[in-house]
Amino acid sequence: MAINIGSPCNTALLLFILYSVQKIVFPSASPPKEIPHEFRNGYSWLPKYHQPTVLFKTYTPKTLEPFHGNDNGRILLAIDGTVFDVTAGRNFYGPNGMYGNFAGRDASRGMAKQSFDAEMLTPVDQPLDKLTDLQPDEIENMKGWIEHFSNKYIICGKLVENDAV
Ligand code: HEM
Repeated sequence: MAINIGSPCNTALLLFILYSVQKIVFPSASPPKEIPHEFRNGYSWLPKYHQPTVLFKTYTPKTLEPFHGNDNGRILLAIDGTVFDVTAGRNFYGPNGMYGNFAGRDASRGMAKQSFDAEMLTPVDQPLDKLTDLQPDEIENMKGWIEHFSNKYIICGKLVENDAV
């Protein structure tokens, strides 16, 4: 049976096929009107906002203390002069966390001696704990925690004396 290409239906179909083929063979090279912010048809895209970055900063006991997490904000703690951002461990260091006493503080002595006792924490207006009395096994213990924290959290600063900045 002969196909009547002169019928309006077939003509429309033929035009549509020709149009589709030319779109595939000669894709539009015109740039998009606005930069896409989401994945669309494989076009390369940019996220709407840059993710917040973590800056390596110098902290003192006094400037570290506000990062206690009680306000639902960032939680930082220091061990042997290295400041870690432990916000991701809010369950541990947040207000109801088992290790919340270390939040915003120099946790070196508590980590070394594996203790939550109040005297493990140096008051924030006092000079830094020099840790000179620690026993070798306690220093090893502290280093073990530093390794654990380095593998798990972001190092975001160093801790220096209050009057050093
Ligand atoms: C009754 C005694 C204790 C129990 C039952 C206990 C239990 C735990 C448990 C279950 C974890 C989570 C382990 C994981 O998921 O990787 C943990 C982590 C930890 N514990 Fe304890 N703990 C105790 C005592 C202490 C003490 C005395 C310290 C003092 C320094 C301490 C410091 C830590 C720290 C720093 C972490 C790591 C948290 C993190 O990864 O951010 N724990 N503990």
